[in-house]
Parts: sequence; structure tokens; C-alpha cells
Amino acid sequence: MVPENRFKTEQEAFWAGEFGNEYVSRNQGQRLVAGNLALFSKILSASERVGSVIEFGANVGLNLIALKQLLPDAEFSAIEINANASSELEKLGYVKVYRQSILEFESKENYDLALIKGVLIHIHPDMLPEVYDRLYQASARYICLVEYYNPTPVSVPYRGHSERLYKRDFAGEMLDRFPDLKLASYGFSYHRDRNFPQDDLTWFLLEKK
Ligand SMILES: C[S@@+](CC[C@H](N)C(=O)[O-])C[C@H]1O[C@@H](n2cnc3c(N)ncnc32)[C@H](O)[C@@H]1O
Repeated sequence: MVPENRFKTEQEAFWAGEFGNEYVSRNQGQRLVAGNLALFSKILSASERVGSVIEFGANVGLNLIALKQLLPDAEFSAIEINANASSELEKLGYVKVYRQSILEFESKENYDLALIKGVLIHIHPDMLPEVYDRLYQASARYICLVEYYNPTPVSVPYRGHSERLYKRDFAGEMLDRFPDLKLASYGFSYHRDRNFPQDDLTWFLLEKK
């Protein structure tokens, strides 16, 4: 597939287009929000005074809905490339939405928490350093990565597509790239958890020191 001209990578066109629209229809509902409430209450217990959050690649806001419950006074922003998902985010009423690619996003503000969940795994590996820089620039204090881990970089088939899903040690690469980042906490959410399953996600909370 040739990338649409307005994007730098095929992976961006993939999420902006039909596959992304279908993802929006497939991934909705209170059960997913409940899982995110359990996940983020764990992650946030290692943080303090989070008053603003930006999510990179927020889709319809299932993480932000959970975070709004846990941080009712915080301000929320999101970057999202898919137009249908962005429209759903805007409907929430408390999220400032940047309808664009992360690879185009220039942060004008700093946020206490910069979050990315299930998105680094879909970025073309050559572009990862750029995304790491944008996450770092957007963060005033914390960066949270929730992704699929593998000790070495691998590409795995994704719903019948190749070159659309990658696993690696994203957090380790950020810790190497930015010496003032420290590991505040980390954990794993198992798909067979009896109460709050997630998709075998590893999470890392990094803090600027
Ligand atoms: C697997 S979904 C994860 C959604 C959400 N973070 C969650 O945890 O429920 C990936 C999301 O990232 C978005 N996305 C992928 N690449 C992007 C890019 N380059 N810029 C902005 N959003 C992107 C997709 O449109 C989609 O909403």
C-alpha cells in the first residue's frame, strides 16, 4: 500500500483509513473502561500531583474516560490521527483534541503526564526516535508507556497485515536516550486476569528527575 501523500509512513495511512475506522467500531464499552480503571489506579499510585494529561493516539478515549474518574480535576488533551475516533473524543467534552499525526505534533505546552498506550507498537520503527522526542518534550514530569514488550525488536503479523505491529523494549530505549529519566514503576497486565484483563500489556512509568 502506498502511503497517502499527507502522511510520512504507511502505518499512519493505515490508522487514518478503513482499518482505523473498523478499530473504532470494535473497541468500545464499559468493560474496557473498567479494565483501564484498574490499570491506571495501579500506575497512578506511583505518581503524585498529576494535574494535566496528554494521550498520544487516544482513539475514542477509553483511557481518558478512566483517567477522568481517577483525576477529576485534571485537564486532558489527546492526539489522534483517525477522524472518526477524534470525533468521539470531542464528544466527551473535556478533552482538547489534536486531530493530527503524532509525527506532526509540536507540543506548545507541558503536561504532568504524557501517556502512550498501544501506539508505539504501530509506529514505523525508523520513526520511533522522533516519537520518543515528542513524548519527552510534551512531559513536564511523567511519561507512561503501555505497550507490548520484547527484549529485542521484532515485527509480528497483525490481523493479517505485515509491518503493522512491532514489539521491543520501548521504555529501555527511552531511558537510554534521556539520561534524566528514571524508572518510577512498571508492571504487567495479563489477558487471563480474573477481573480486569488487558491485552498482555507491559507498562512503565518514567519520571524526569
Ligand atoms: C491500538 S489503538 C490504541 C488506542 C488507545 N491508546 C487505547 O489504549 O485504547 C492505536 C491508536 O493510535 C492511533 N494512531 C496510530 N498511529 C498514530 C499516529 N501516527 N498519530 C496519531 N495517532 C495514531 C490510532 O488511530 C488508534 O486510535
